[in-house]
Amino acid sequence: MKGKCVLANDHGAVELAARIEKHLEERGYEVNYLGVSVPESVDYPDMAEKACKEYLNGGYEFGILCCGTGIGISIAANKIHGIRCALVQDSYSSEKAKQHNNANFLAFGGRVQYKEDPLAILDAFIDATFEGGRHQTRIDKISALEG
Ligand code: RB5
Repeated sequence: MKGKCVLANDHGAVELAARIEKHLEERGYEVNYLGVSVPESVDYPDMAEKACKEYLNGGYEFGILCCGTGIGISIAANKIHGIRCALVQDSYSSEKAKQHNNANFLAFGGRVQYKEDPLAILDAFIDATFEGGRHQTRIDKISALEG
């Protein structure tokens, strides 16, 4: 068993979230899935808040948030103190989200036509390592912006 992660989505990404949950489990992660698994409409800021607050309780390696585009849910997550949510588009940005930004959340869009499989994009993040050094200095500056 690897680490623990938290996953939440709105109605715009029910299928994608299910694929991500299965993939993470296959990769050995314990997934705390907070829903929603049904297509009835929910508000993405509520799902972002749920998942981010759970993450901040501790014990999680990272979190995943999904909505129709990934945009709204990532904007909401990034309002929460301590959350660095990367709205990744491809394996390159996903790898850098870990190496440079040490993102603690990734966001995906269930209605987005990715050029790569989102699971490969997720793997690029999982398999990367934070580089520290000058990148930590920059993250410290992000934290300072939180006030
Ligand atoms: C919901 O219809 C949609 O607006 C939401 O999933 C997301 O795309 C917002 O950014």
